Amino acid sequence: RVAGPCVLVLFGVTGDLSRKKLLPAIYDLANRGLLPPGFSLVGFARRDWDHQDFRQIAYESVKEHARTPFREDVWTHLSEGMHFVPGEFSDPGAFDALAMAVKELDESRGTGGNYAFYLSIPPKFFPQVVEQLQRSGLADAADEAPERRDGDGGSRPWRRVVVEKPFGHDLQSAKELNDTVHRVFPEESIFRIDHYLGKETVQNILALRFANTMFEPIWNRSYVDHVQITMAEDIGIGGRAGYYDGIGAARDVIQNHLLQLLALTAMEEPTSFSAEAVREEKAKILSSVRVPGPLDLCTARGQYAAGWQGGVKVNGYLEEDGIPRDSRTETYAAVKLQIDSRRWAGVPFYLRTGKRLSRRVTEVALVFQQAPHQPFSQTDTEELGSNALVMRVQPDEGITVRFGSKVPGTSMEIRDVNMDFAYGESFTESSPEAYERLLIDVLIGDPPLFPRQEEVELSWKILDPIEEHWAERGELDQYKSGGYGPDSADELMARDGRAWRRL
Ligand code: BG6
Repeated sequence: RVAGPCVLVLFGVTGDLSRKKLLPAIYDLANRGLLPPGFSLVGFARRDWDHQDFRQIAYESVKEHARTPFREDVWTHLSEGMHFVPGEFSDPGAFDALAMAVKELDESRGTGGNYAFYLSIPPKFFPQVVEQLQRSGLADAADEAPERRDGDGGSRPWRRVVVEKPFGHDLQSAKELNDTVHRVFPEESIFRIDHYLGKETVQNILALRFANTMFEPIWNRSYVDHVQITMAEDIGIGGRAGYYDGIGAARDVIQNHLLQLLALTAMEEPTSFSAEAVREEKAKILSSVRVPGPLDLCTARGQYAAGWQGGVKVNGYLEEDGIPRDSRTETYAAVKLQIDSRRWAGVPFYLRTGKRLSRRVTEVALVFQQAPHQPFSQTDTEELGSNALVMRVQPDEGITVRFGSKVPGTSMEIRDVNMDFAYGESFTESSPEAYERLLIDVLIGDPPLFPRQEEVELSWKILDPIEEHWAERGELDQYKSGGYGPDSADELMARDGRAWRRL
């Protein structure tokens, strides 16, 4: 899967995401030989830089963050195709200069008029940028019918736009954002990034379920007691106060990453792995999700207080730089959801996420019902929990099956054990970084890993009432940094006679 000739235009090239993820991912793709020979990268930002400055910044970020080893010849070749256009998003002159720059690249590097525009910028700038892309003629081929957007081998050039989250902050604003982008680009040309879908372990959820026979028969309400989806982080908000405050944990990751994990875990088998078929099944699930009870009993949220993490004393959220001292933004959120379908009726899906927790772990755990009859005595089975199948998304990528086993010895003592699959042990192939995978898919024009408008809007529909409830009620528990989250999250589970898996 090598991309055809094209230019990638990166808006927001001075931002954190570009430096830590996008530029290194582009280098890694080049290093793996997946970019076409004339591939060109144009950076656009409000900086007084020239091409050389841009190359230098890119060089530093590649040196620091690239996954694959640094190779001088690959870098030299890639950097020859790197250009910088300085300008404000509101300046038509800058976009005219951009249009000239990419046309020159078409001539000099044979990029064939195929352009991808990556908007790694705050959404408030989207309207200006897409409008300028249209005005300057840069978006021109974007209204081509999908079957003719075949620049990777056909005769028509293609134009694609890549948008980073957040896709709005509620349903209304997401619709407005979609309308804005749609005024210039058709849905087929819009690639919305949810970087979780670029992770190998997330793609493996569908492989595990539908490439095998042994899991699917028990993947339903007859065997599954409940599902826990956890995304715990040990980091705080770092330098992202401007983005994070007022957004909070639920909008930041439940609306996108965790609901996508839920959809992949719960969806029916698609008829094929085409973008359309997968999206259809995900959308069915998202449209049948509801909160099964009063919102204050089915949700919990909290904000991290000061504490200790890895032996270091860390600030509470309200002491972080740039955070108002009276902020009511949550850094931890938990919700109990239900899916109204034959497969899942009565099976709660518990989702939780938080920053500054004891460790970093993302996983999806199917917790199974207890055996209907236990022939062993209670003292024998004291250390026996429920069977579980855990898809370990990160950092220790793999799958665990947890079940009871007899402890060797003369008595019939039973204890839980784990059967593990670890990527590192089973595969010699290394996993591409999520952004690497998603970028190559954009350049090839392969859409299955990108959420469509419908999914984004359905996810906001689930979250909106929860956010409204929180805004009205305003209660926010504190939890200690380095701990396990607020007590209210444990109480949410305890009310159902369950407990979170240990972090
Ligand atoms: C981003 C969120 O989408 O995902 C961040 O905005 C979060 O707040 C990050 O830290 C986590 O990504 P990953 O890949 O490290 O789990």
